[in-house]
Parts: sequence; C-alpha cells; structure tokens
Amino acid sequence: MPTTINRFTLGIAGLLLLSGCTIPAAAGAARTTSTTAGPASSSSAGRATAAASSPSSTAAAVSAAPATSAGPATAAAAAKPAAKPASPAASAKLTPAAPAPVNCAVAKCVALTYDDGPSNNTYDLLDKLEAAKAPATFFYIGNQIDRYSDAVKRAVKDGIVIGNHTWTHPVMTGLSEASQQTQVDRTSREIQLAGAPKPTLMRPPYGDFDSATKNLGYPLIIWDVDTRDWSTHSGTSSLETIQNNVQPGSIILMHDFETSSVAETPTIVKWLRSKGYTLVTVPQLLGTTSAGHVYESRAAG
Ligand code: NI
Repeated sequence: MPTTINRFTLGIAGLLLLSGCTIPAAAGAARTTSTTAGPASSSSAGRATAAASSPSSTAAAVSAAPATSAGPATAAAAAKPAAKPASPAASAKLTPAAPAPVNCAVAKCVALTYDDGPSNNTYDLLDKLEAAKAPATFFYIGNQIDRYSDAVKRAVKDGIVIGNHTWTHPVMTGLSEASQQTQVDRTSREIQLAGAPKPTLMRPPYGDFDSATKNLGYPLIIWDVDTRDWSTHSGTSSLETIQNNVQPGSIILMHDFETSSVAETPTIVKWLRSKGYTLVTVPQLLGTTSAGHVYESRAAG
C-alpha cells in the first residue's frame, strides 16, 4: 500500500542521508559544544576504543537512524483511527513478563539495547531474543510506533523494556526546551497508546543532550559499548567490539533496523553467557534511577 512504500522509502532515504555526512556532522558539532557525558566525552575512553576497533571509524561515535518525518505516521493514524484508544488511560494495558530476579551488584550483568525501532526487523529480533530467553531494552522512535503497534505489544509481552527515543530522532541540542519536551511527551503517549507501560527511560538520539534534555523528566540512558553497526553492517564486527569492550555493568548499543545486529544477536548472547554475563534490562542493570541523570553503564551513572 502507498503508505507502506512511502514510509519505507523515507526510512531508507533518511538512513542513507544520515549515513552520509549531514546529520552526523551536525551531531558531532553539537556534541563538541556539549562538555557533559556525551558519547565523545573524555570520560568515554572505552567507547573511543570501541570506535577505533571497528572497520569504519572515521567519525565520532554516532548512531544513525531512519529520520522519518511525522507525516507518514499522521497519515497512518488517519487511515485507522478506530484502532487507537483516545488516551493512554483508555488503552488496554498489557502485563509485561516478570523479569528473572538478579542482583547486578553481585552478578556480571550486561544490557543489550536496540535503538530506532520499531521496524520490519522487530519481529525477527523478538523471535531471536525469545528463543535465547534474552531480556533486552528497546528505544523506540515515536512516529514509527503506530505502524508497528503489534510489535510493541509482543515486545511488552516478552518482557522487553521500551524506552523513549523521541518522536522524529532529531539532534536534541538543536531544539528549544519546549520542542524537546514535545518530542518525548508525544512519544511516551504513543508508546502507552500501543499498550506498553509509560516509559521510564529516555535515550537522546546520537547520545546528544544538553541541560534542557536533562530537564525532560527522564534518566538519560547512553551506552559504554557502541557496536557502530549502522556503519559496519557487520555482525562479526559488532561481536568483536563487544568482546573487546564489554565489562560488568555495560550497556551495549545496537540498532533495530540493522539486520546484521539482529542476525548476530544469538551469537552475541551465547558469547556473553559463555563469559559469565547475565543479560538484563536497563532497569534491572541500573536499579533506581534519577530523572536528569546520565547513565553510560552501571559503573558510570
Ligand atoms: Ni537512534
């Protein structure tokens, strides 16, 4: 159907654009002016090593995403208005699967995170995580949720934690505080409309944030192991980056749209477990979190 084609085309076009230079350059510039704990900060030695160890390390570690506009989502919503509850309170709440108890103060915990979904890949990713009985955390782009609301429901049922990754994946430091708030508010509402719990975590696109982002009411979840899967398109490279950089308490960044990461997930899970790691969600990894606080790992938060 036309909406599908347009949406897919926009997503790929956005990805190609972001894989070029326009947005990453902007993100890099924005991050340069941010002296807080962003991905390129001096406190991220491990992350810098991870970037240097992967095949394409020409730029600062940034994540790319299909920069879809609000238009297709609006059109999709208009096409099936009856399918969506009028408000988060009216939506049928799903009961997330209870996580297995684990004490990450003692166990070697690690959190797999997948950004920029939901997408066509989400179902395959969920299949692989379910088969491996592996918990994970997804950071979703709000304007993609309506089209893949079934994937949201299944993720919740499978015990996946869904965090907020803004409505259109902008460079947040280029937005006013009010615009940043709209980006996260709209996304949290959409996640709830799909039946998921209200998000308690937020990940700013590209790991780029400023003081306004810290005032949005969420803990900011960054990462300490960046697979750069969007650049390498290599599951082997992602696995090696993880093998070379993971530590107890690590938060690993991969992408929902990157098929190489989805395909490599069972191998990554198997390797981590072979080294004694326990896979957990980000809330399990971090325990109690504070709004406005920046978390790169259990140790650096
Ligand atoms: Ni992203």
